Amino acid sequence: MDVSLDGKVALVTGASRGIGKAMAATLAASGAKVMINSRKQESLEAARAEMDGEVEIFAANAGDDDAAERGVLATIERFGQLDILINNAATNPYYGRTLDIDDARYQKTFQVNLDAPLRWTQAAWKHAFAERPGTVINVASVGGLRVEGVGLGVYNVTKAALIHLTKQLAHELGPTRVVGIAPGLVETDFAQVLVDNFGDALAARMPVGRLGQPQDIANLATFLASDLASWITAETYVIDGGASVAGGALEPAE
Ligand SMILES: NC(=O)c1ccc[n+]([C@@H]2O[C@H](COP(=O)([O-])OP(=O)(O)OC[C@H]3O[C@@H](n4cnc5c(N)ncnc54)[C@H](OP(=O)(O)O)[C@@H]3O)[C@@H](O)[C@H]2O)c1
Repeated sequence: MDVSLDGKVALVTGASRGIGKAMAATLAASGAKVMINSRKQESLEAARAEMDGEVEIFAANAGDDDAAERGVLATIERFGQLDILINNAATNPYYGRTLDIDDARYQKTFQVNLDAPLRWTQAAWKHAFAERPGTVINVASVGGLRVEGVGLGVYNVTKAALIHLTKQLAHELGPTRVVGIAPGLVETDFAQVLVDNFGDALAARMPVGRLGQPQDIANLATFLASDLASWITAETYVIDGGASVAGGALEPAE
């Protein structure tokens, strides 16, 4: 069974690198027209040059007040419609005990990881999905489902809230589908420090014996975005190579 996104238009935040880039490229290769967002025009142009299909660029900080409205309108202006919104951009400016975080980094983490997905969904609803039901995919994390030691606590709280937001919006916006993806450790720039410190030990314990690659997440996202997933909403799907059944907590290599 082929996954076809022919005739659909997608908008992916945080899509110049890593998981977002792989998702955008796979959506485009599957027939969708795709708007890619990140903060840097040059990175977006470089990413687009590696993709097949119709891909357009919208540079903005996904957490800025007006970015969602402008990004959705730019997509509709360029491609005539919007069917799939992927809230993927996220940040983690702080590593440490949850109680010790300063206000600026706390606010920034919530602004990009939680407020932005809500704002982008509001804009997609207002300008597209209220009239023509679409699909929202929120990229969360396994850290939003379980405690994995000290360090990523605040980031993980934003992801836990995003998983609940996914359920709540699915309830309120149906038949627009709202689904989540909760990846385990995936080899990207974002996760480089974790990969360097914990990657080998974690991979050795995992049933599939390797860490995730951006393409693993892109494959799931493409399925969830397609009509093959038309009976799926509200749930967040863990994709972690089985780390959760293998002592998934991040522990240093011996
Ligand atoms: N990698 C993992 O192990 C892992 C595990 C679980 C969940 N996740 C989640 O997966 C998603 C993607 O992570 P990744 O590992 O692919 O990260 P990444 O490799 O660092 O890529 C992040 C992308 O987002 C863009 N970006 C960052 N801040 C942004 C902002 N404020 N507004 C717009 N774009 C922004 C970056 O481009 P610019 O810097 O040019 O803006 C880049 O294109 C995130 O939601 C993350 O929480 C990742």
